[in-house]
Amino acid sequence: MASARKIIIDTDPGQDDAVAILLALASPELEVLGITAVAGNVPLALTQKNARVVCELAGRTDIRVFAGCDRPLKRKLVTAEHVHGKTGLDGVALPDPTMPLEDAHAVDFLIETLRREPPGSVTLCPLGPLTNIATAFEKAPDIVGRVAEIVLMGGGYFEGGNITPAAEFNIYVDPDAADIVFRAGVPLVVMPLDVTHKALTSRDWVEGMRSLGTEVGRAVASWTDFFERFDTAKYGSQGAPLHDPCVIAYLIEPDLFTGRHVHVAIELEGTHTLGMTVADWWRVTKNAPNAMFMGSVDRDRFFALLTERIGRF
Ligand code: BDR
Ligand code: CA
Repeated sequence: MASARKIIIDTDPGQDDAVAILLALASPELEVLGITAVAGNVPLALTQKNARVVCELAGRTDIRVFAGCDRPLKRKLVTAEHVHGKTGLDGVALPDPTMPLEDAHAVDFLIETLRREPPGSVTLCPLGPLTNIATAFEKAPDIVGRVAEIVLMGGGYFEGGNITPAAEFNIYVDPDAADIVFRAGVPLVVMPLDVTHKALTSRDWVEGMRSLGTEVGRAVASWTDFFERFDTAKYGSQGAPLHDPCVIAYLIEPDLFTGRHVHVAIELEGTHTLGMTVADWWRVTKNAPNAMFMGSVDRDRFFALLTERIGRF
């Protein structure tokens, strides 16, 4: 097998972030160089803790976890306890982590790692607001050209938004950071709500996780049960959208997803549209494409992959 792809997961766990982390840790195709936490679904003190809870659940206390930015670049932090619960990881009760948080700031870890590793060998996987990544790019512009690719969860076009009618949560929380990242010139793959709202859990799948009979299986089932309630109430859909695992699944099996290479701009001024990802899906401008904006997923294969990998714990 080719050598494992080196990734850094930048995250704000979040139950779906947690499943994404587990998927990455179960996958030999990927080498997780570190996990950087950012404020998003819940404040930083909880996201960095939850990241360690998930690593411990996976038996991976060797993974280095760093705390990053505790607020967006220019705006007040907006959180999503209404979706993820007070802890950000509501569901089955899990023990407080015993593995340490690294001393270094997540932004410095990003910079040092990208400077140390060969150019084009590290992929960034943002699963939350883009504050850490944008801050690293602003502080150390020399690292931008060294990033292999950014594969992120964020935005929505045909599907609209989930925190405002126009904006998806991760982009809305820090649109200024998203603007920096989308204009950076790094190859970008975007998993918007257009895709992730098709990656809905089924009752059978959740019960399948529970009947694995493992601690990890029980946790995954309880997490998805917890945040399914929110989406069912809001969209009338059955099942919980596994937003963030789409990013990791793409790294393992890219052909699960289809989309278009288009120009995507971040709305920074709109009275009603702040944080909207304005995707030129129909290519009506001459703006050069800056992102592979995904539109669909092979749902059955996606869940088969998750089942097989989560079953490895
Ligand atoms: C995104 O926002 C968070 O609530 C989820 O973890 C996901 O990253 C979906 O809009
Ligand atoms: Ca997230």
